[in-house]
Amino acid sequence: MPTMDLVPASPDDYRRRAERRLPRFLFDYVDGGAYDEATLARNVADFRQIALRQTVMRDVSRVDTSAKLLGLHASMPVALAPVGMGGMLARRGEAQAKRAADAAGVPFTLSTVSICSLEEIAAVSSAPFWFQLYMLRDRAIVREMLERAWSVGVRTLVFTVDLAVIGARYRDVRNGIAGGTNALGRLRSGLLSYVSHPAWLVDVAIKGKPHGFGNLAAYVPNAKNPAEFRAWVESQFDASVTWADIEWLRGIWRGALVIKGVLSPEDALLAVKAGADGVIVSNHGGRQLDGVASSISVTPRVAQAVGDRAAIFMDGGVRSGLDVVRALALGANGVLIGRPWAYAIAAGGEAALKKMMQTFQKEQHVAMALCGVDCVDKIDAAILDHASSGPYAIMRAASCAGDPRPNVIE
Ligand SMILES: Cc1cc2nc3c(=O)[nH]c(=O)nc-3n(C[C@H](O)[C@H](O)[C@H](O)COP(=O)(O)O)c2cc1C
Repeated sequence: MPTMDLVPASPDDYRRRAERRLPRFLFDYVDGGAYDEATLARNVADFRQIALRQTVMRDVSRVDTSAKLLGLHASMPVALAPVGMGGMLARRGEAQAKRAADAAGVPFTLSTVSICSLEEIAAVSSAPFWFQLYMLRDRAIVREMLERAWSVGVRTLVFTVDLAVIGARYRDVRNGIAGGTNALGRLRSGLLSYVSHPAWLVDVAIKGKPHGFGNLAAYVPNAKNPAEFRAWVESQFDASVTWADIEWLRGIWRGALVIKGVLSPEDALLAVKAGADGVIVSNHGGRQLDGVASSISVTPRVAQAVGDRAAIFMDGGVRSGLDVVRALALGANGVLIGRPWAYAIAAGGEAALKKMMQTFQKEQHVAMALCGVDCVDKIDAAILDHASSGPYAIMRAASCAGDPRPNVIE
């Protein structure tokens, strides 16, 4: 049945609209993952395996979805994850996403490799936002970006640690956007893809300029398009980084430090030891090492190991407010969403993303109400139906996190 005129309700609906609106190489860039995309699929599938335990006849006339994320109030325990080149998905896409995040009352995270700069995002509104940074070989640039971030009001730094090397993304290879500046010629040959997406062509390619990486423009003055910026960034990724560098970073960053990209309790503990205020359990949305575990399956063990020494976030596969509740039940304090916001912004800009965030909040509300809890602090493993859930690995992990109920599989 054609879905063209239906009102989008779920991230998957926005995904389909994004697919129609974006040139093929851009849609694949967002939608794809590494290698066989097994981890990408697992991230989503594992959430669906977690059954909630319906509990009725509780007073749920007042359900509060709000949460404290690193000490700051948010309308729900959700933040928008850093998504590189978001400004190619809609005109000044990151600025639109920031406005939608402000309206929804959740934090927006600006990627190092965004089209809009820190300064452009700060000018959208006075609401605080998070900034994501990679360790670059040129530490002077790292320092300067931290200073810039601080001076525009950023107080939460998300430091991504799972990109020492870059996972092979076959869709990007096929579309000619992997492999540095050589891609440019191939992009040009993709002109057909541009002209067959006229709305995007006018809105983004023509009216949405400049298309450089806003945060890096000053450091790569000769780069003229995303492909040339990408080549520079890839040459700057520092594969020699260790936890000692995080300690260095801790010494120069005064705000909250969140380490993004840990996938084991051991690494999470090392992050905390290096001074992290929070960790994000993440496999980069299945875009790096294909074949690793889903983020949600690892979350309970990380939460158990870290305890209350740092905030626990997870991302990868969160596609609804129900997933938000599931993640909290398994030990997370909050989640980040990547592709869902990218799909929505590509499908219909700020208005679409605002609507999608309202849907997430409503779904979280319904899930909490029908699990019999009225505030996020009361969400724990007891709201999961372990007997009906799979896969075994997740449930075993959940039981490690300490489930008081008798029906835990062990
Ligand atoms: C198109 C795209 C670009 C991304 N760019 C970045 C980035 O610049 N920095 C970063 O730390 N993570 C980046 N990520 C990973 C996300 O922050 C997040 O970890 C991931 O999308 C979560 O999985 P989900 O898409 O299933 O929600 C990117 C993800 C996508 C889909």
